[in-house]
Amino acid sequence: MDDFDAFLHTLRVWDLPELPRFDPATAPEAPLPLFREWLRAAHAAGQPEPHGMTLATTDAEGHPDVRTLMLHGADERGWHFASHATSAKGRQLAERPYAALGFYWAVQARQVRVRGPVVAAPDAEGQADLHARSTGSLAAALTGRMSDVLGSQEELARASAEAWERAQAHPDLPVPTWTRYLLAPTEVEFFQGDAQRRHVRLRYRRAGGGGWMRELLWP
Ligand SMILES: Cc1cc2nc3c(=O)[nH]c(=O)nc-3n(C[C@H](O)[C@H](O)[C@H](O)COP(=O)(O)O)c2cc1C
Repeated sequence: MDDFDAFLHTLRVWDLPELPRFDPATAPEAPLPLFREWLRAAHAAGQPEPHGMTLATTDAEGHPDVRTLMLHGADERGWHFASHATSAKGRQLAERPYAALGFYWAVQARQVRVRGPVVAAPDAEGQADLHARSTGSLAAALTGRMSDVLGSQEELARASAEAWERAQAHPDLPVPTWTRYLLAPTEVEFFQGDAQRRHVRLRYRRAGGGGWMRELLWP
């Protein structure tokens, strides 16, 4: 075992005085209220950035890709996130409009996984989403060219300074590539870690007629 492996072995997971209990028998019929409850509970328990999530997509060859994003909403339409349609993820979603999301809330030993098809929301929603955010968010979006190869840090500094000026002068400036995406879940899994490793896994799967099937999974 090399030093790094030995170091990894010293790290603990869920080194907490107590883990929350999750009784799947009391879970609601649909995943959305439970997701909202868990995200609020993670925040209340001190989880930094509980709205941070991983977004997995696949490219045209079927190869997976993954990155971190912020959750912008979760409602009856689905789980919302936003990015440039011209970014790597935007191109992948245009080619293969399916994705998975992962949330991990270490302070509560909880994980949520969401899978399903993705659609772009109407353009007005993407622009409203952007303009409801900070000048920095608009400046970053105006800088554009996300996922393109960057020639130098100086090139970015120049483009960013110009974008900040434009964002400050015109806070309603549209950014045509900025897109709000909606993932409509077909599966949502809630995982509650347990000190004895008897983790609880509850999976919701879309059933006919708009309802949900619930099933437990072996951990
Ligand atoms: C905490 C965190 C939050 C992020 N939130 C977003 C986001 O909401 N939208 C976004 O486009 N990129 C966000 N990013 C940047 C993405 O992780 C990624 O670098 C970028 O979207 C380019 O991804 P792509 O090349 O796969 O398209 C965030 C990064 C971090 C670390």
